[in-house]
Amino acid sequence: MPADLAVLGLGSTGLPLAQAATAAGVGVIGYDPDPATAADINAGRVPPGTLAAAELRRMLACGFRATADPAVLGRVRTAVICAPTPPGEDHALDLSAVAAAARALAAHLRPHTTVVLESAVYPGTTEGYLRPLLESHGLRAGRDFHLAYSPGRLDPGNRDFQLANTPKVVGGCTPACTEAAAAFYGRFTERIVRARGTREAEAVKLLETNYRHVNIAFANEMAVFCHDLGVDLWDVIRCAETKPFGFQAFRPGPGVGGPAAPLDPNAAPHFTPPAHPRLPGHPLRMVELAAEVNSRMPRYVVQRAAALLNEHGKSLRGARVLLLGVTYKADLADQQGSPAREIGSRLLDLGAQLCYHDPYVPQWRVTDRPVPRADSLWEAAAEADLTLLLQHHRTYDLQGLAVKAQLLLDTRGATPAGAAARL
Ligand SMILES: NC(=O)c1ccc[n+]([C@@H]2O[C@H](COP(=O)([O-])OP(=O)(O)OC[C@H]3O[C@@H](n4cnc5c(N)ncnc54)[C@H](O)[C@@H]3O)[C@@H](O)[C@H]2O)c1
Repeated sequence: MPADLAVLGLGSTGLPLAQAATAAGVGVIGYDPDPATAADINAGRVPPGTLAAAELRRMLACGFRATADPAVLGRVRTAVICAPTPPGEDHALDLSAVAAAARALAAHLRPHTTVVLESAVYPGTTEGYLRPLLESHGLRAGRDFHLAYSPGRLDPGNRDFQLANTPKVVGGCTPACTEAAAAFYGRFTERIVRARGTREAEAVKLLETNYRHVNIAFANEMAVFCHDLGVDLWDVIRCAETKPFGFQAFRPGPGVGGPAAPLDPNAAPHFTPPAHPRLPGHPLRMVELAAEVNSRMPRYVVQRAAALLNEHGKSLRGARVLLLGVTYKADLADQQGSPAREIGSRLLDLGAQLCYHDPYVPQWRVTDRPVPRADSLWEAAAEADLTLLLQHHRTYDLQGLAVKAQLLLDTRGATPAGAAARL
């Protein structure tokens, strides 16, 4: 049966979108060029970090299917591209999957289809990069089909805000394109926010993503600074966040993980003028600096761990170190970009004996070496010379742990004041 919507790319952005649309009664087909991904999804196996298994089962019961066959793309009214755009070695986003998705779609594109890009991209990508690919078979955006950009705004694990109640920003190549995209998302999101065009909508993604990185970087700098000064930053933040205006609290941590890498448009070598006639040609300094500051945190955590052991007459070499929580976010299984790996690797290099505990991670490796998993948290904490809290999963009783552990270094400020050493 022809579907209303095709979602291209069934990962942590595409599957939740397909789920929200299916739940609202939209007929959805999922396209992913990886046949194993499509087969797994059809068999009810969720890719990590996407959906709960029960949610996928409900989607399948409502008729949702995944396929690796691009022919289905020619039978839909709307197509949303959620292909991955990971940072490459040069830190620039790799747009090759977006290009491949666009080529697959272009070969089957029909007049009047609404095409939306949701992948994280630089301003100018929808019109300068995606549009020519989609138009390669003769149809023209804004005349024969609608084309728009809408930034993904998912917050995995957030219980208060899901796709339906998070305002959706859309910006089209023409006002009619914007309206077509707005009408589509309006079927399953409560509020649509219209940007002036695709570039503005793309720049929303740039602003939102970098806002997170820059503010975390400032909190991380403050953590290093306050520690040197003997000031309790966590107490500072607790007081500062009582200001009812003009301040939003960000907290330091052992490093920044997750799928949303910093977006610096000047790292974009992919398309140069005339596609990008107005690229300013100077870097976003704050973004560069934030990436640099945040990338130093794993090393800083290891230094603090060594200093703490040293204060207690021990050295890292030979010390038993228990890492608690190795995922990038609390209460989730996703390990994407988690700083735990770099911290683990540095500790191993310095001769520490590692073990880890994480209720969401049954097996864990660091630079290809398997790290033993502690079965009993209490016993492992009592045995370890140092327990290092990297992720505050809700199940951790930190007050109890602080009593059991020989030494506890809390990189999340989650222990009660005075109970442990905090970042
Ligand atoms: N918070 C957010 O709003 C948010 C979160 C995550 C990702 N994003 C952005 O969304 C995009 C997708 O990220 P993700 O986390 O869903 O990625 P992901 O790695 O979880 O999944 C991507 C999926 O796309 C598939 N794919 C690869 N090439 C493809 C192609 N040519 N056509 C169609 N599918 C293809 C892969 O097989 C995979 O299943 C990225 O640009 C990312 O930056 C936004």
